[in-house]
Amino acid sequence: MSGSNSQSVVVSPGGRIGGSLCVPGDKSISQRIALLAALAEGESRVEGFLRSADCLNILKVLAQLGASHSFEGESLRIAGTGGHFRAPADALDMGNSGTGLRLLAGLLAGQPFTSEMVGDASLSSRPMKRIQEPLLQMGAKVELLGPKGCAPVRITGGTLKAIDYRPAVASAQVKSCVLLAGLYAEGVTSVTEVAPTRDHTERLLNAMGVPVATDCLRVSLRGYGAAGPRLRARAWRVPGDISSAAFWIVAAAVAPGGSIELRNVGWNPRRNALVKVLQRMGAHIEFIPGADASACETMGTIRVEGRTLRGTEVGGAEIPDLIDELPLVAVAGALAEGPTVIRDAAELRVKESDRIRSVVDNLTRMGVPVEERPDGMRVGGGARRKSGVAIDSYGDHRIPMAFSILALHGTGAVEMRDVACVNKSYPSFWEDLKKVGGHVA
Ligand code: S3P
Repeated sequence: MSGSNSQSVVVSPGGRIGGSLCVPGDKSISQRIALLAALAEGESRVEGFLRSADCLNILKVLAQLGASHSFEGESLRIAGTGGHFRAPADALDMGNSGTGLRLLAGLLAGQPFTSEMVGDASLSSRPMKRIQEPLLQMGAKVELLGPKGCAPVRITGGTLKAIDYRPAVASAQVKSCVLLAGLYAEGVTSVTEVAPTRDHTERLLNAMGVPVATDCLRVSLRGYGAAGPRLRARAWRVPGDISSAAFWIVAAAVAPGGSIELRNVGWNPRRNALVKVLQRMGAHIEFIPGADASACETMGTIRVEGRTLRGTEVGGAEIPDLIDELPLVAVAGALAEGPTVIRDAAELRVKESDRIRSVVDNLTRMGVPVEERPDGMRVGGGARRKSGVAIDSYGDHRIPMAFSILALHGTGAVEMRDVACVNKSYPSFWEDLKKVGGHVA
């Protein structure tokens, strides 16, 4: 991620992990609401919008496309374009956001103009053929201008045709891209997944009056043709991000004496697999449902009490449901008794960093025995961890956050290098780390 490379923090254990936190808004949902509100007719009001680098970036890009926004305190207003974006004068800089780029690609495929999306060095090394292929089939012109099928992505949109698509990888971003393009096609566009992935796009579209049908692994919607959909602007409340809550869930779950309460957390069945994995490892975690959030997602309170955990194995269809939490599974594994194995997770190699490499390298620096595998890793549990070492973020937000949790349970100070990337999803992470009992310098 671009930004200051020199920024580093030192994390040391502060004693008992505890307290009560309200985690910031969900990144996936915030970005989707911004995109759909920009398309809608009228003004949308959003409470709990995540003010992180990725989400603020998407607002900036949507303003280039004609949808302005303003913040009034914590409340965000987005003025919709009434269904059609304005051709942008300049390239759309998506920063570090894979979700932003891949989902917006679907909407741009339905607009009758040419536009170009660029990204930072990390985003420009991530695979984009996975969205090019279906959008070409639908009739858009999609050029990948970077080496090896990467961004910049130039799209000339127009009249689209509905397709029945079967992505090779389980990806909510690819599914969402095709469904959003499908809004501009005549007839029924469907995506049949290899394993179910997060369904926020489907939920939001349903809430905006676009029926999306789900039948096992097949998701479909009827498009509105070149005229595009008439989405109704509305008020939204974004639930707290379970992928951000995940750091504190693991921090408290892995050691007797820890306890934590996390409020207003989104509890989507396609996002909460980490909790099930930790429970399998022996963790004590409960969810208390609260009032329904208007982002059509369940939200509530998560309570955790620390226990000694035992290692586990994760793989198969549960991987998409905890894809962003796998660095934390490795951290929990390092703190558990016995080995933990992660398999079927080769997708980790094309995230903001090669997350198998970045996790294996940093576990090794911390003195944790770990074996790298093509599709995951085997982590030895219960090892005595080193202090006085430095962790490399690899420019990937989830890496320094996950390793801070390991440092919290270590024997001394650990330096986290190049941590500006944390702003991508959780700008108040270091403050919250102090609130739950960690030392941060
Ligand atoms: C996301 C989907 C996942 C996830 C990413 C956010 C989304 O990516 O890793 O952080 O908002 O749809 P893939 O769809 O590439 O698996």
